[in-house]
Amino acid sequence: MATEVLTTADGRAKTALSRRYAAAWTASRDPGATPIPVGRADPPLHPARPDRPELLSPRDVPRRRPGSAAGRVALLHAVAHIELNAVDLHWDIIARFAHVPMPMGFYDDWVKAADEESKHFNLMCDCLEAAGSRYGAMPAHAGMWRAAEDTRDDLMGRLAVVPMVLEARGLDVTPGMIEIFRKAGQGDAVAALDVIYAEEVHHVAYGSKWFHFLCGREDHDPKEVFHALVRRYFHGALKPPFNEEKRAEAGLPPDFYWPLADEMSQPGRG
Ligand SMILES: [Fe+2]
Ligand SMILES: [Fe+2]
Repeated sequence: MATEVLTTADGRAKTALSRRYAAAWTASRDPGATPIPVGRADPPLHPARPDRPELLSPRDVPRRRPGSAAGRVALLHAVAHIELNAVDLHWDIIARFAHVPMPMGFYDDWVKAADEESKHFNLMCDCLEAAGSRYGAMPAHAGMWRAAEDTRDDLMGRLAVVPMVLEARGLDVTPGMIEIFRKAGQGDAVAALDVIYAEEVHHVAYGSKWFHFLCGREDHDPKEVFHALVRRYFHGALKPPFNEEKRAEAGLPPDFYWPLADEMSQPGRG
């Protein structure tokens, strides 16, 4: 199921399949239902994607002011692109690490997260289409799959970088985005981003939960391991301001991210 979603290129088709399989998984987990076995899969190194948007290096993606209507459309487009990547990231963690013995709750959590990302992508597409645009109408960032590639052999590295760094960053920036659309009177985008903001806390929490689970199983200090893995696999910067309240709600204490932000802001760091 995960590999089928990953190998579906069109965004709306990918998310429709994702939602259908998530519902099937959830139904199979009801008491008395026939369980779906966790199999083994050979997911592609790169998920299938539509021909559009054109993927550009971040420095080549045109910047638009969020104060303009065009800038707000570009912002929705950027979020849609992030959400589509997130759909693939959550199915990828399920398929790629199926050989690592994990409790069933691990699969429940990432299936639920994938289902929510699918909803988020569709919400962003609805907003884009209501504004006369659509996903694929402008270029998007290449390189969002880099974190998945870099951590393809390391489940703890994947958890550290994807939910606990990248998705946590979403908690920091989403309130500001909601404010932009509120000021512009774009109620549909405000409502959609409110849903995204509320649900993303859980994705970060799933990451923290399973990261701590694995540290406990191997008798490792979670904070030390987190710092080492982010240094090894994450190539961006951890930049304040942080949404400390939502990060705490998601099980991400300040001593996980502040030391990394401080060391990354030191001059001379390669
Ligand atoms: Fe999302
Ligand atoms: Fe998410």
